[in-house]
Order: sequence, then C-alpha cells, then structure tokens
Amino acid sequence: MVKICCIGAGYVGGPTMAVIALKCPSVEVAVVDISVPRINAWNSDQLPIYEPGLDDVVKQCRGKNLFFSTDVEKHVREADIVFVSVNTPTKTRGLGAGKAADLTYWESAARMIADVSVSDKIVVEKSTVPVKTAEAIEKILTHNSKGIKFQILSNPEFLAEGTAIEDLFMPDRVLIGGRETPEGFAAVKALKDVYAQWVPEERILTTNLWSAELSKLAANAFLAQRISSVNAMSALCEATGANVSEVSYAVGKDSRIGPKFLNSSVGFGGSCFQKDILNLVYICECNGLPEVAEYWKQVIKINDYQKTRFVNRIVSSMFNTVSNKKIAVLGFAFKKDTGDTRETPAIDVCKGLLGDKARLSIYDPQVTEEQIQRDLTMNKFDWDHPLHLQPMSPTTVKQVSVVWDAYEAAKDAHGICILTEWDEFKKLDFEKIFKNMQKPAFVFDGRNVVDAEKLRKIGFIVYSIGKPLDQWLKDMPALA
Ligand code: UDX
Ligand code: UDX
Ligand code: ADP
Repeated sequence: MVKICCIGAGYVGGPTMAVIALKCPSVEVAVVDISVPRINAWNSDQLPIYEPGLDDVVKQCRGKNLFFSTDVEKHVREADIVFVSVNTPTKTRGLGAGKAADLTYWESAARMIADVSVSDKIVVEKSTVPVKTAEAIEKILTHNSKGIKFQILSNPEFLAEGTAIEDLFMPDRVLIGGRETPEGFAAVKALKDVYAQWVPEERILTTNLWSAELSKLAANAFLAQRISSVNAMSALCEATGANVSEVSYAVGKDSRIGPKFLNSSVGFGGSCFQKDILNLVYICECNGLPEVAEYWKQVIKINDYQKTRFVNRIVSSMFNTVSNKKIAVLGFAFKKDTGDTRETPAIDVCKGLLGDKARLSIYDPQVTEEQIQRDLTMNKFDWDHPLHLQPMSPTTVKQVSVVWDAYEAAKDAHGICILTEWDEFKKLDFEKIFKNMQKPAFVFDGRNVVDAEKLRKIGFIVYSIGKPLDQWLKDMPALA
C-alpha cells in the first residue's frame, strides 16, 4: 500500500488529499498540520474550510484511508510520498520584502523531513513557490539526508476555491515536473500512477522541474491579467457609454481569446493572484529583467485602481461625502461559495469607505464577524502601492457592524455595495429593501449581479461596473 503524507491541512492540502483518498482506495493518506485547532476541525463535523462537496468526500474516506493528525513526524517518517502544502506568504521584512515569497515554513518542513526520514522518499512541492525552490529544497534534503535518497517533484495545484472538488475530480490538467534522470523519471511515474487512477492519461503533463514551477506562476498571472484587462476596459466603457458585458461577450467569442474569466468586477482577490504576480515580479527583477517585471506589476496596479475607482464612485455620487452615512456591504469573501477573505477587494473598499467616515453594516453568508474585524484591523504591507495602509483605529472599528441578514444590513442605509457575487443577492426582495432605506437610495454593484433596470424602476440609483451610467452618476463625476 502506497502511503502519502501531506504537510499542511489548508485550502489546498485538505481538499486535494481528500480527493486522492476517495479516488485511490489502495492509498493511505495522512494530512498533518502543526495547528491543533485546524486538525481538530478536520476531524469534526465542522470542517475548517467551506467548500461545496467537500464534507461529502471527507465523510466517505475519513477513518478508512484518510487521516488528519498533528503527529507530523510519525506520518512523514512512514510515507513514501510527502506532499508539502504549507503556506508561502509574501515576505514582509528584509530582502525582497513585499514581493518575494516567504519560504520559512517550507524550509522548516524540508529540514524536518530530512531529520525524521529513515527510508527513501519522493517529496512533492504543492504550494506555489518561486522558480528554483525545488533546487533549494533538494539541497537542504541531500545535505541533511544521512544517506537517504530524496527525489523532488513539482506538482502545482490549479484548483480554484468554491469549485475545488469539481476541479480536482475533473482537472484540465495535472502537471508533474521532475529531474530528467532515471531516478527523477521513476519518481514522476510513481506520482503519475496515483493521478492516473481517475485522471485521463493525456491530461497528465510531465515537464522538467522549473517548467512546472514557472507554469503555475504564469497561469495565475495570465488569469489575473485577463481580469485587469477587462477591468481596465470597464473604466473606458463607463466613460464612453459602452457596456462591458457586451464587450466581453463579443471579445470572448473569438476562439483565440475564449469566453471564460472575462467578468468585470470590483477587483480580483484570493490568496494566489497578487502573491504569485509579486513573486513573478521579484524573480524577473532578480534575473535582470526590469521591463518584464514592470509589465506584470501593471496587472496589480490596475486591480488597485479598480478598487479605488469603486470607492471614489460611491463617495462622489453621494454628494462627495459618506461621513456618518450607513452603507450596507453585501459580501466580504473574495468570491462566492467560499468563506475565504484573503486579499478580498472588500478589505480595501471597506477601508476606503471608513477613511471617509462611513458607517458600515456588513453581511456575508460565510464570513464571521471575528474574521471581518481581523481583516479590517490588520495592517497591509506596502510595496509601491500605498492603498489604504493605515490599520483602523479603535474608534473606526466602532463604525463597523456585522449582521447575519442582507435586509438588516440595508435597513436605514443610504447605499448598498455588492462586493461578492453570492447567488442569494440576485434573489433579494429589493422592493422591501428600498422601502427601508434612506432616499435617494443607491446600489453600487461591484459584481454585476443585480438587474439594474428593474432596480431603477423601483427607484434606486444604480451603478453597475462598466455599464452605461445613470444621469445622476454622470452629473457627479468621480474624482480621480
Ligand atoms: C486561482 C486560480 O483560478 C487557480 O487555478 C489557482 O490554483 C489559485 O488561484 P482562486 O483564487 O481560488 O483560484 O479563485 P478564482 O476563481 O481564480 O478567482 C480569483 C479572483 O478573481 C476572485 O476574486 C474572483 O472574483 C475574481 N474574478 C474571477 C473576476 O473578477 N472576474 C472573473 O472573470 C473571474
Ligand atoms: C489581426 C487579428 O488576428 C485579426 O482578427 C484582425 O482582424 C486584424 O489583425 P493579422 O494582423 O492579419 O490579424 O494576423 P495575426 O494572425 O493576428 O498575427 C498578428 C501578428 O502576431 C503576426 O506578426 C504574428 O506572427 C504574431 N503572433 C501571432 C505571434 O507572435 N504569436 C502568436 O501566438 C500569434
Ligand atoms: P493554502 O491555501 O496554500 O493551502 P493555508 O494557509 O490554508 O495555505 O494552509 C497551510 C497550512 O500549513 C496551515 O494550516 C499551517 O498551519 C500549515 N503549516 C505551516 N507550516 C507547517 C509545518 N512546518 N508543519 C506542518 N504544518 C505546517
């Protein structure tokens, strides 16, 4: 029986290992983490992450061939294949601060693997890391190996949150990079055999180590770039009277471009896009490629611009002040069907509104009050985009309330901003909401989820990203 151990029971490690266990009954999978509450949650009915379909997969395998444990060393020692899926945040201090990946967790995991191993192992890089990390890890492992042989593979994860289980069941591709030596090829084959139990062979791509590492950064950079491209267009659409949805549709019909990932929004969020691009920028700079670095940096700058533009639009359309006005914020997660708030555009938008002294009433079906308060009080690291850097003062915190119902959030509010595209926001009774709001009542739709025409008929002034503007908004242009 092949034994797999995954270090790091997070958004990537948890779902990925659960699906491997489900699809490979002959493989024993242990997911380990240093965080006791996280492992306890994985072993309970209340899993630590919200992901559609995940509960079901975990229930089918947990206790059979899927185990969650804090005994990191025991499971690593026993494993044939060790996945490393620990967090790799952006460095906040020292060399490369604000751009480079912080590999502290990775390095400590690698040293621990070398320390406890008593048999040969395949070590798989699962978290996104800078190109050539595998080489560094290989060095740590071989220099501390006590004669044990390690083969290092890069097997980046392409799942998106909210659709993780679907993505894992039917991946567009599985990518495995390894050393081009007989031992390297054998290790690649061993991992390929695991995936081949449910993924069609032609979708399992094998490359050298560095191509696999770089492909992950490149894929995320390309995806983020599409969003910044369409968001840049959204600003131009508002200025000219074009409709960004019509433009996206027409552009996406070109089979060379394709229709997916062209939804204009208040900005992209999530743990990967910004972090991976910053990482890419840093690698380019380190390799003497400032023009390439500048090119990718622009994707983040447009994303910041989009968030700032949204806040400016709100403030300017409400007579240039939101001071002491109640604003309902619908949605805080970085996208629908997840409770994850890492890098969510909602953080910057809320901080921007609070900077103008608004009172916020926030509702998200999956994000807790504690999480929202933590996100809004945390300081954001500056690289060269000084966006709402100040953490909130205790008095500002009092300007925020978190409620468990969209109607409650909107009661007596001057405006509503929609920051996450939760399906339930499409079905809200806006007649009822309108009656309980201050007038004029505004809706700022940062995800283009509501039927703007219908809302205008009710009496709302509606701003939809990238769509032709109401006369009201034209009369009150957003200041730069
Ligand atoms: C992303 C990649 O899609 C995935 O392959 C990789 O493994 C991890 O990073 P994730 O961050 O979970 O996944 O979600 P994704 O669906 O890519 O959305 C990222 C952000 O872009 C969200 O804030 C989303 O709302 C936004 N987005 C997405 C848009 O604004 N417009 C779109 O058309 C698509
Ligand atoms: C382009 C558009 O494709 C077409 O839809 C529009 O109507 C006119 O402009 P064209 O300029 O004739 O058409 O050729 P195209 O095939 O798009 O190539 C443009 C340039 O891009 C060429 O120099 C081509 O060599 C280059 N190219 C194209 C690349 O370098 N890499 C590619 O992957 C594709
Ligand atoms: P991702 O989105 O990449 O999965 P997460 O932050 O959700 O990232 O998960 C990473 C997990 O890795 C966290 O639960 C963290 O506690 C765990 N972790 C970090 N370092 C170690 C380590 N040395 N040993 C075990 N677990 C670790």
